[in-house]
Amino acid sequence: MKGRDLVALWDWTGADVSALLDLADALKRDPASYQGALAGRTAFLYFEKPSLRTRVTGEAGMVQLGGGAVTQTPEMGRIGVRETVADVARNLERWCDVIGMRTFSQALVEEMAARSRVPVINLLTDLLHPCQALADVMTIREAFGELGGRRLAYLGDGNNVAHSLLIAGALTGMSVTVIGPRGFEPNLRVFDRARELAEVNGARLAYTDDVAAVAGADAVYTDVWASMGQEKEAEARRRLFLPYQVDADLFGRAAAEAIFLHCLPAHRGEEVTDEVADHERSRIFDQAENRLHVIKALYVALIRGL
Ligand code: CP
Ligand code: NVA
Repeated sequence: MKGRDLVALWDWTGADVSALLDLADALKRDPASYQGALAGRTAFLYFEKPSLRTRVTGEAGMVQLGGGAVTQTPEMGRIGVRETVADVARNLERWCDVIGMRTFSQALVEEMAARSRVPVINLLTDLLHPCQALADVMTIREAFGELGGRRLAYLGDGNNVAHSLLIAGALTGMSVTVIGPRGFEPNLRVFDRARELAEVNGARLAYTDDVAAVAGADAVYTDVWASMGQEKEAEARRRLFLPYQVDADLFGRAAAEAIFLHCLPAHRGEEVTDEVADHERSRIFDQAENRLHVIKALYVALIRGL
């Protein structure tokens, strides 16, 4: 995997994802054995949007592997404004070993990946959130031992998180159903691309506006109804999305041993009630922890190789 990018995940194979998750598991079990694995290496992290989990795990993960991280926010300069993206890439690759980017535009991450000789990791765009999906499938694998044949029901907006879950499910043989109001379905281009991958790996992908589709799911997942950049729509969305709130009644319609997942931040009382977020089968803070193990695995795999 040395030198590869993580821009969308759809160019990875199921075997790549398994290998990455195995490494993340190993890093979680025995972090000491990877101390110094990336000594002297540097991550450049760029954030156009707010972050808690991604920024802290992105920086701390590199430090824990013996390297360092430099973080840039738009106040320090927006990529693509003072000079071309290609020129920024040709600077960064001289100093840094990996580039992480959280941007509005997916095309900007793709352009950086195409221009830079060092690996580029997508830390969330308007379209995708692949690091999150890797931590999510890691968490589901921990709960159930395997992913093939499992069923995830995602409730809410057909957004970046939903898109990356569809792709991760497609690659790992886990069926994913996105359940949300009409007009907020997943992007069709992403859905169709994920469905092609799903057919090869035996996963079923679907979307519907019918909450009854949560029945029997092994994992129930939700995310905020208005994503970063959509704050002005929050009020209008609240009304439309209310039927898709994950409360105890809705969670109770999933499988008896179902776990609850949320990428966080959560808007408690909106997409999820406290009762479910703090349920004994909620795994939201394991997910957050697993973001650390996954980014460390990505750094090791993409910079040094598996
Ligand atoms: N889940 C996630 O990406 O969290 P942050 O926005 O806090 O990084
Ligand atoms: N869909 C959310 C995810 C946050 C981690 C957003 O883009 O704001």
